[in-house]
Amino acid sequence: MNVIVVANYDEMSERAAAFVAAEIGHRPDLRIGLPTGNTPSGMYERLVGMHRRGEVDFSQISTFNLDEYWGIEFAHPAAFARYIGDRFLAHVNVPEEQAHWPDGIGQAEQNAAAYEVLLSKGGPLGLLILGIGVNGHIGFNEPGTNFASRTGLVPLAERTRQDAFHPRSGFDSAEDVPTHGITMGIGTMMESRRILLLASGQSKAQAIKKALAGSVTEDVPASVLQRHPDVTVIVDEAAAALLDAD
Ligand code: PGA
Repeated sequence: MNVIVVANYDEMSERAAAFVAAEIGHRPDLRIGLPTGNTPSGMYERLVGMHRRGEVDFSQISTFNLDEYWGIEFAHPAAFARYIGDRFLAHVNVPEEQAHWPDGIGQAEQNAAAYEVLLSKGGPLGLLILGIGVNGHIGFNEPGTNFASRTGLVPLAERTRQDAFHPRSGFDSAEDVPTHGITMGIGTMMESRRILLLASGQSKAQAIKKALAGSVTEDVPASVLQRHPDVTVIVDEAAAALLDAD
């Protein structure tokens, strides 16, 4: 693992955007897995800025959102598909037909199977970008998820549901946060050629320590990344604070 520790959130966002732009520079038709949440929003903002300045061309890439809340429509203010749409796709030149996400409405098994087909059709993802939950989750793969899991419907941990409700979350109340999500599986994620993991803030320090330096266990989904041959981690000092501590 290549672990890059930077000073703060802005620097993490800057480095992440530069990393993604460089990957696209090497491979203009890159297939990229995209995360949502607070962590990557600065990265998307910078990628949009780079695109406006003519520094990166997204016309040949394909995007694949990691996950979606189950039971909410695309138009729902908390929908992850809408998050990626509003923060990234609406401002860059990814052709509509090259942007993909797991549907949060309909028949879960069918949606998941359809997404696996889309994911595998063009070969493994060239780059998968991940955030990490305070409980070590990646995508919506909560602690206890089998490392071989494929895309599917999964229950959300109580902690994940609590964290999902905040003033700008798009949910009216904590009870409105869905109990399930549809997510790329861990087995699916691990097939990606290259993985970029981002984390910022003291609240992530424990999860980062367990994921990077703890034992590889299904109790900490992100610890599976220790088994992947090409992982870059960009963390700020607050999130990295426990890495060298016993
Ligand atoms: P966050 O979420 O970026 O909003 O902290 C990360 C995650 O839960 O994967």
